[in-house]
Formats: sequence, structure tokens, C-alpha cells
Amino acid sequence: MTTSSAPGKIILFGEHAVVYGYPALAVPVTQVQATATVSENSRGGVMVEAPNINLSADLADLAPDHPLASVIKGVFSLLGVSRPPACTVYLQSTIPVASGLGSGAAVSVAIIRSLSEFLGHPLEDEQVNALAFQAEKLYHGNPSGIDNTVVTFAKPVYFIKKKPIKTFHVGAPFIIMIADTGISAPTKESVSAVRKLWMADKPHWDKIFTRVGEIVWNARQAIERGDIAELGKLMDANHSYLQKMTVSCSELDQLVIAARKAGALGAKLSGGGRGGNMIALVTKETAPAVARALSSAGAKRTIATQVG
Ligand code: PMV
Repeated sequence: MTTSSAPGKIILFGEHAVVYGYPALAVPVTQVQATATVSENSRGGVMVEAPNINLSADLADLAPDHPLASVIKGVFSLLGVSRPPACTVYLQSTIPVASGLGSGAAVSVAIIRSLSEFLGHPLEDEQVNALAFQAEKLYHGNPSGIDNTVVTFAKPVYFIKKKPIKTFHVGAPFIIMIADTGISAPTKESVSAVRKLWMADKPHWDKIFTRVGEIVWNARQAIERGDIAELGKLMDANHSYLQKMTVSCSELDQLVIAARKAGALGAKLSGGGRGGNMIALVTKETAPAVARALSSAGAKRTIATQVG
């Protein structure tokens, strides 16, 4: 039997613009995890069990473009396994689905690691990342690759599409409060909405994405210097560009405003938007008040995570 877990993630800066080749910053969130366990079964065939999503099926009965089936088949194909041994892939996850916490990528990474180890050929991180990216395409349509990268390497990353992974130094640890709107919002839809805007007026949106790219670069510098106050201002600025991209919504905006009023140094939506999660920059002192304010403003749950 083999077991592997992978963390969730949040995007700190640069979502959406990252799809167009601009940088983004993201960090792992270890408080939430996806776990895959692979064990022999006596029934025969490859069984996939995911009670969280009410799935219990034979791999052979899943559609070829089912993300879980594609990940499992991707591992078999990479390892040249034409007759897979009878086994059960069991999945558990505490990462909410379709909320910007990278649940799809974490499930993929956990399966790839656990299954390749079960088959006696544990894969290198680069191979895990490449396979998980293939599955991201099924979840997201046109993903930048940021989710699978942060989740695979489980480190803070400064990410640019198709460029080698770069991690960054955290000058002084800081606390991010994550709050869930409870609205499930497929990233595929917000990404395609932004693409429509961009197609209709490329020079305008390229300018906006360039400004977001500058915010991301400045944020990385602020994190490296440990300049938390500056980081908060940059989060606010990034949120207003995301509003222009039409990927915020009234529920996210209300949480952002509530967090700022309760003492957060900055706040923004995180991930695909139009639901899902927002993040707020807090200190040990302001964290309890911000968490309370977020809950009263409608957050379904809050998670505090330290970066660095
Ligand atoms: O919704 P999430 O956390 O999976 O983030 C998606 C980030 C986007 O930039 C909107 C899309 C992408 O593929 O990078």
C-alpha cells in the first residue's frame, strides 16, 4: 500500500494575467491536503474511490477525459504499464473543490506520487509536475500551470508560464487569512470571460496585465524585504485590477471590504474569482478580529496560514 499527500495553494498576486505570460506569486497551504492511497484489491481491475465527490467506479468505466482517469492512465502510460495490476486508488481531500485552493492539482499530484510508487517507479518532481499539468488542462481548459507547480514543489513560487520554476525568499514571515465565499466558481469560466475581454481589445488588456505584472514584481521585492505594509497596498491594487477584469463579485468585494475595515493591511480575491476564496494580510494581533469580521460578512470558513 502506498500513500501520498499534497497541499492546497493560494495565489497571492497575478492570477489571470499569468495566463498571458505575466508573473504570479503563489504559496502552498498545508492546512488543507489531498491524500491518495493505492492498495491491491482482490476484485480485479483498477478501482477509483473518491467518497468526497461520491465516486466509486472502475477506471474502465470512466470517460477518457475524466481528470482522475486521465491522471491514472497518464501514470500507466509514462511507466509503460500496459496491464495494470488490480488495485484501488482511494482519494480523500480536505481542500474545497472549485474555490481557488488548487484541489484539482493536489488530487492529481497525490495520485501520481502514490500510484508511481505503488508501481515501483516513484517519479521525479519534474515528471509529477508535467503529468499534473496535463490533468489541469481538463479541469481548466487553458491553465497557466501555476497550480500544479506550487502543489508539486510545495514551496512559494514566482511563476511565469513555460519558464523554469523560481522560488523566492521570505524576508519576514507574514500571515494570510483565507476566507471562502462558499460559491463554487469554475476557473474555466472566469478564464474564458477574461479571454473574451482580451480578444475584444488586446492593447487595453495588455496594458492592464503589464500593470499587474509590475505589482507582482513589487510584491516579490516587498516580501523579500519583509515590507508587510507595502505588501498590503499591493494586494489592494491587484484587487482593483481583478475587478476591472470582471472576475470579482459582490460577495468577494464584501469580504474584501470587511477585512480591510477590521484591520487587514490589504485584501484581494485569490484564484479564478467570481466566488471561491479571498485573502487578507493580517498580523497576529489583527487576525482574530479580521476572522470574525469575515464570518459576519458571509465567509463560510476562514483559514489562517503563515508564509515563510
Ligand atoms: O482558481 P485557481 O486557484 O485554480 O486559480 C486559477 C488561476 C488563474 O490565473 C485564473 C488561471 C491559471 O491557470 O493560472
